[in-house]
Amino acid sequence: NSDSDGKFPLNLTIIDGFTLPKGCEEMKEQYDYLEFSEEDVWICSFPRSGCSTWMQEMVWMIVNDFDFKGAETPIHERCLFLEKTTLQIYNSSRINPIENIQNRKDLKNPLVFKTHLPFTLLPKQISSGEKKPKIIYVARDVKDTCVSYYHYGKFVWDYKTDFNEYCDLFLRGKAPYSPYWNHVLSYWQMRHNPNILFLRYEEMKSDLGGVIRRVSQFLHKSLTDEQIKILSHHLDFESMKKNPAVNYEAFYEPLRKLRPEGRFIRKGTVGDHKTIMSLDMQKKFDDWIESSIQDTDYAV
Ligand code: A3P
Repeated sequence: NSDSDGKFPLNLTIIDGFTLPKGCEEMKEQYDYLEFSEEDVWICSFPRSGCSTWMQEMVWMIVNDFDFKGAETPIHERCLFLEKTTLQIYNSSRINPIENIQNRKDLKNPLVFKTHLPFTLLPKQISSGEKKPKIIYVARDVKDTCVSYYHYGKFVWDYKTDFNEYCDLFLRGKAPYSPYWNHVLSYWQMRHNPNILFLRYEEMKSDLGGVIRRVSQFLHKSLTDEQIKILSHHLDFESMKKNPAVNYEAFYEPLRKLRPEGRFIRKGTVGDHKTIMSLDMQKKFDDWIESSIQDTDYAV
């Protein structure tokens, strides 16, 4: 069933085995025929892995030479979310993907794209290897990702499922952009390509300065130690949490009237699953992780 057994109040579809927002079918057809530049930077992840805010802000600041004034513009106006047109209620009725991408004319080069699509479903020029823009993938501990996604779903889509039920749906590949492992592995398998940088949320937490350095080298921008310090401060959880330009205020402010505790930038910790996931469920995840990666060289 495309709407995840009716458990999610979302309009979903299946493309190549992935559960996606309904509008992706139409969007994909049109994007496959657009021109993309190799100069651009693509930030990709499974949802709630630290890409929509944290990595996007990092990359935007680096490619725009620390333009703090420009960074006051909301992040969704500075970067292009590929599936933006499907975002609102995952409803396919008002899709205009071309317009979304054409907005890029107003933006400075290189463009920063964000997408939650797996590598295999990126626009054809990129997934076929014909065009090689810079691609940064962020992966996060899957149990923490699931917890973050659950809170997000409760806030934005008013999920009625309880947490255990949600975990079962997640494990069964029913949450949008699932199955999780097909997603992560689609980029992991490509990570040796020079245009791909595979990073982890946990590294960003433990050594943000080191990740900023790696990302800047990958983007051929050299930063001084002082700049790395300044950017680390700008990207630190407390600074980002109170920065309206990266909290998607325009989208979420109305929802907060209904569910005041909800936040896009929520808690930002490693190991958050331990506060909510039963030991039985953790074991279920561990077994699932083990069997999903056993024939791969993926390192958790
Ligand atoms: P939590 O819900 O666990 O807090 P995405 O942007 O890809 O949707 O990911 C959202 C997750 O990244 C949220 O996780 C959010 O709080 C976290 N995040 C955003 N900015 C962060 C930062 N500066 N430091 C740590 N975590 C951050």
